[in-house]
Amino acid sequence: MPTFRPDLDGLITYNPGKPIEEVSRELGIEDIVKLASNESPTEPFPEVQSAIAAAAGTVHRYPETSAYYLAEALSAHHGIERDSVWVGPGSTSLLLSASLATVRADTSVVVARPSFVMYSIAAAIAGGDVIDVPIDADHRHDPEAMAAAIRDDTVVLFYCNPNNPTGTYSPAGDIDRLVGLVPERVLILIDEAYAEYVTAPDYASAIPLALERDNVVVTRTFSKVYGLAGLRVGYAMGKPETLQALRRPQVPFATSTLAQIAAIEALRHPDRVVERVKENAIGRELLATELRGRGLAVIDSQTNFVLWRPAGDPAATASALLHEGVIVRPMGPWIRVSVGTERENRRFLHALDNVPDTTG
Ligand SMILES: Cc1ncc(COP(=O)(O)O)c(C=O)c1O
Repeated sequence: MPTFRPDLDGLITYNPGKPIEEVSRELGIEDIVKLASNESPTEPFPEVQSAIAAAAGTVHRYPETSAYYLAEALSAHHGIERDSVWVGPGSTSLLLSASLATVRADTSVVVARPSFVMYSIAAAIAGGDVIDVPIDADHRHDPEAMAAAIRDDTVVLFYCNPNNPTGTYSPAGDIDRLVGLVPERVLILIDEAYAEYVTAPDYASAIPLALERDNVVVTRTFSKVYGLAGLRVGYAMGKPETLQALRRPQVPFATSTLAQIAAIEALRHPDRVVERVKENAIGRELLATELRGRGLAVIDSQTNFVLWRPAGDPAATASALLHEGVIVRPMGPWIRVSVGTERENRRFLHALDNVPDTTG
């Protein structure tokens, strides 16, 4: 046997669930509805699909390694300098690269719990210690508690806004207070994977802060509202010197040609994004109202998923829903359901009514 790092033995691994075709075959159900990974329920924009098809003949060449044109398109999109943008194959890969560039043994990172599990995984892969800080009674990040948890050896603080899996968000004032409380030697990674879906008027992106402060970086993704999860493309924004240091562990040619081309085309259709955000908000409201109507606790969400509490055991309820052809994700005492198309949302609610012991 080769020699493996023993400190990775206990690493929690990201659980993506079984392929949908496998579930379909095992259960003998053809029409499976997947509401487990917060993907866009609709296909990439038609213009994006055409751009991908048109570029198929170019993939014998390596991609543009710095994603030059995509970074340029993103800089125009956000009204920032191109050097303030760093592109990678999914925002998760950027979080990992950033962790590898900052975290090592004898250092620690601060994360909220529950939040996106990849923060703890990335920190552990880099060899660091993970300090969990519970979210507050309103299921939001607690900036004061997170700042207070920082130790002398802390190098990164992860902040998910809006948060996965709760769907809650931190208003602008919370982030300003956090940044004021965190020492400048600690990198604050603010993950805004779901920012496009937010409709709350007091939400503000931390992008302006990231452009101002050496120790603040914001990540975004094309995996959600743009519907490009299968292509893997995300980006970070911050001070050029900070981004340069964080990208050192990134492999060359990391973001594929098709991913870059698709993302550039996707940015040309802001009207379609507006449409999707509107549809998502309607679906989110429908799910929350219907779940509450069944006597279940639901956390107010600003994302494309809803966290709710089944009356019975969450794992058993999720399994029963699976047998009805609907895949959701149990999380502790809760279940997370992604907002689907209207048909998928109704399928989920119908399935729920067929499952015993789920309504209060
Ligand atoms: C908070 C958060 N960040 C990032 C991601 C993944 O983004 P990407 O597909 O760009 O790696 C997810 C996906 O579920 C997420 O929930």
